[in-house]
Amino acid sequence: ATKALTKQDWQGKRLLITAGGTREALDPVRYLSNRSSGKMGYALAQVAQQHGAVVTLISANVTLPTPPGVQLVRVQTAREMETQLHRFFPETDVLLMAAAVSDFRPQQTASQKIKKTAANAELTLHLQANHDLLQEMGTKKQPQQLVVGFAAETQNLRENAMKKLHQKRVDLIVLNDVSNPQIGFNGDNNQVTIIGADGFKEQTPVEAKTKIAERILTVVKKKLP
Ligand code: CTP
Ligand code: CA
Repeated sequence: ATKALTKQDWQGKRLLITAGGTREALDPVRYLSNRSSGKMGYALAQVAQQHGAVVTLISANVTLPTPPGVQLVRVQTAREMETQLHRFFPETDVLLMAAAVSDFRPQQTASQKIKKTAANAELTLHLQANHDLLQEMGTKKQPQQLVVGFAAETQNLRENAMKKLHQKRVDLIVLNDVSNPQIGFNGDNNQVTIIGADGFKEQTPVEAKTKIAERILTVVKKKLP
């Protein structure tokens, strides 16, 4: 069982949080993206700030109000997020990588709107892999820093999450079952399993994303050096 966070628990700690979903432009009016609402990342930012943390929130295409006292950095693409991560990570105690980063981007972004033609019954898009930002940060991580990843899975949940934990060299991974309609992307509730590189495991009940944020931050706090 986790004990509630106190007001001072995060006093003076510097948190870097990513939220939302990146957008990868196809042309001036279209993009590839995903269903992330940003609610989980914003809840983490708000709760951490309320418990004394200095919070920088790298926000990709989120329409929610900025939590008071949080430094907001807006980005659109995975590459913009990468630039901001490299900028802020060295000064960070804990990175919480809640954003849904596009795995691929169009190989080319058309400078003009792509037109449909009567002759084309199909359109093939050529995509290029984005860097794995979490893995980059996990690899750069200094011993006093903590990196927390998120895993969105629809099958073989724990096995897939464990693979990400090790491959990306993170300290904790927060597993989301994104096939469960009860805790959909846009909802205010969530249920997660928090898994540590040290064997730690905790499954939360289905509850408000702010409650989940408190639980995640309570677990992370205990792992801080
Ligand atoms: N992530 C990232 N950079 C990417 C893709 C993902 O930093 N290019 C991060 C996400 O922010 C999340 C974690 O990696 O914290 C896991 O993301 P997820 O999409 O669940 O896993 P992937 O490693 O992308 O694998 P897949 O989508 O194939 O399951
Ligand atoms: Ca992915």
